[in-house]
Amino acid sequence: MSAPLTISAVSRRSGVAASALRYYEQRGLIASERAGSGHRRYPRPVLRRIAFIVFAQRIGLTLEEIGSELAKLPPGQAPNRRDWARLSRTWTTRIDERIAELQRLRASLTQCIGCGCLSLDRCQLANPDDRAGRLGPGARYWIGDRPAG
Ligand code: FES
Repeated sequence: MSAPLTISAVSRRSGVAASALRYYEQRGLIASERAGSGHRRYPRPVLRRIAFIVFAQRIGLTLEEIGSELAKLPPGQAPNRRDWARLSRTWTTRIDERIAELQRLRASLTQCIGCGCLSLDRCQLANPDDRAGRLGPGARYWIGDRPAG
């Protein structure tokens, strides 16, 4: 079995800041053991787990959602390729939704930058398909609300 990794080695290899790794650990998404010195030591499969977390975040999963996905992995053993593939199978829909959202943004960009009305009645960017109206006043998606799935 190969030697466990320090937090700086994991950070360097994954490109994820040590502070983010500590946060993932605090949220229970990854786990380390303590060396005799008290420093964190991560098993090597943690890199694959971090890759999963980073990719999942990039396609819009919340940390809560990522946590429940990771909880589906078989306990007490390193997940294999098939286990990871099973988790990401449902992501296609998410990616399609993000693509549609970006296409809508691109289509509205020129008009909306020149306009700035953010009208709930006619602005496709602020209120696509009038779904935002149920969330409250204003340009809901610009202030961080997410469209319902
Ligand atoms: S900001 Fe006016 S139509 Fe979008």
